[in-house]
Amino acid sequence: MIEQKFQRVFGSPPEVVVRAPGRVNLIGEHTDYNDGFVLPAAIDRAITYAGRRRSDRHVRVHSEDFNASVEFSLDNIAKDPENTWSNFLRGVSKFLEADGHRLAGADIAFGGNVPLAAGLSSSAAVEVGATAFWNKLLGLGLDPVYAVKLARRAENEFVGVPCGIMDQFISALGRRDHALFLDCRDLSYRHVPLRDDVKIVVCYSGVKRALAQSEYEVRLKQCREAVGKISALVGRQINSLRDVSPLDIQAARGKMDNLLWRRAHHVVSENERTLEAVKVLQEGNLERFGELMNQSHESLREDYEVSSKELDTLVGLARRQSGVLGARMTGAGFGGCTVNLVHAEAAEAFAIAVGEGYENALGLKGEIYVCRASDGALVSA
Ligand code: GLA
Repeated sequence: MIEQKFQRVFGSPPEVVVRAPGRVNLIGEHTDYNDGFVLPAAIDRAITYAGRRRSDRHVRVHSEDFNASVEFSLDNIAKDPENTWSNFLRGVSKFLEADGHRLAGADIAFGGNVPLAAGLSSSAAVEVGATAFWNKLLGLGLDPVYAVKLARRAENEFVGVPCGIMDQFISALGRRDHALFLDCRDLSYRHVPLRDDVKIVVCYSGVKRALAQSEYEVRLKQCREAVGKISALVGRQINSLRDVSPLDIQAARGKMDNLLWRRAHHVVSENERTLEAVKVLQEGNLERFGELMNQSHESLREDYEVSSKELDTLVGLARRQSGVLGARMTGAGFGGCTVNLVHAEAAEAFAIAVGEGYENALGLKGEIYVCRASDGALVSA
């Protein structure tokens, strides 16, 4: 428990405790930075912050996961090249101050059970947790969507990872037993109920997201390039792949570089799938939802080329189990996790069979989590 850790490190109990969950994306992959649609859920694995106000401008922070402590002054916040785990809090603190929120010094301990670099957005949880922590400790009254943007800015501009907005959004605004349908262009969102007779089962491949950042940047550039090419072909101004219709993309086939076309085709078709997935989820048609998840995986594997041998193996094993509705890779790809929708009564057997099958097939130990969608750090009751 982080409260006890705080007490041991700082000698008194914390004043506030804040919890920010990791996430799994059900469908809508590599669409957020193309102004598209996503459908993630916050999971019941989280990063928790415990802290107490100080009377000066010093921050003393302890990471339970790294078993390390550092100090910095709010008057001079710079990136720490050694204790990189502290940069999320530093970045959030710096941008809050830059936006005119005067912070106070604090003693802080944080840690949790979102596996690191496993594709379940532990970094977004650390950033959103830091933002929610300052919000609660100092009564800043932050607008939740502003807090989401600030947390993402810390990741993009301070930590230096060019992610979209999905992970921070869901960690802040997820809701228990619901997925969140987000339009990444105007940031309008809606919570969609998840039935309790199906479970979200996450399979971690045991492979950290190596390559993910460099390949992610390549995909970002390819999407931008595709926008330029398709704009010229359809003869109208297109700002992002969100503006490309299924008819446009079919018309562009063979008239532009095939690799760029396939990247764009994934994004356009994934947006369509996500819109349909939300509709069928609301109608209770989980069979169709599962088919759309399966199609999403094929598209990520063939058109977008961000899957891996491990992820494909997990998906293949999953689809052979009884009670499974759909299986796909989730997150950026190149390692990390798959997400599976499984009938509740089959979930435990599914977890055991996929875990064993994976070890037999590749000699790797995966980890299987049967998840429950949970509340985000800033969702109001
Ligand atoms: C990572 C990024 C997200 C999103 C996904 C792919 O998780 O942080 O913004 O782009 O990859 O859907």
